[in-house]
Amino acid sequence: MSRPDDTRPGEILIPEEQLQTRVTELAAEISRDYAGRRLLLVGVLKGAVPFMADLIRRIDVPCELDFMAVSSYGSTTHSSGVVRILKDLDMPLAGRDVLVVEDVIDSGLTLSYLMKSLAAREPASLAICTLLAKPGRRRLALDVSYVGFELPDVFVVGYGLDHDECFRNLPHIAELDGSE
Ligand code: IMP
Ligand code: MG
Repeated sequence: MSRPDDTRPGEILIPEEQLQTRVTELAAEISRDYAGRRLLLVGVLKGAVPFMADLIRRIDVPCELDFMAVSSYGSTTHSSGVVRILKDLDMPLAGRDVLVVEDVIDSGLTLSYLMKSLAAREPASLAICTLLAKPGRRRLALDVSYVGFELPDVFVVGYGLDHDECFRNLPHIAELDGSE
């Protein structure tokens, strides 16, 4: 397949086994915290899909799934700060226990916008679970209940995360080489 630039996955930062172990831990924590309740997991397309698929199979409280798509970086590795809802939820949130599942929180711009929109729909509770967070790049405060791994300021791909729609299928998280 031809690629528009010479970017490629570089050093593996989080190997598959470490990812899977952490996902199991997060699922156990979530199952404990939501014991006796029925959870609505909201995945942010498309990056959260592999994480969400692994996570739900290890959560042992009843849960439903829904998805949202918001605009993100396009083909560059820098946040535009412009967020648009491209696909909204199918389900109403009123009175529901909602857990938003994200692949990565970078500046926090995407998720703070999303959380405002979701909170306005009056869920019984609203929390965030992200696989990755880059605390050094946070521009907006966010209350994040579950974080898989904290990363330094590097652009990563794999396990759902893309560069220009590529590399989502890698089973691990790798640094991206060759980006500007
Ligand atoms: P934020 O709005 O800056 O927090 O960025 C959130 C979105 O940017 C994520 O949902 C990703 O789609 C994308 N993003 C941020 N950092 C990375 C990265 O290292 N690799 C791939 N996508 C990223
Ligand atoms: Mg993305």
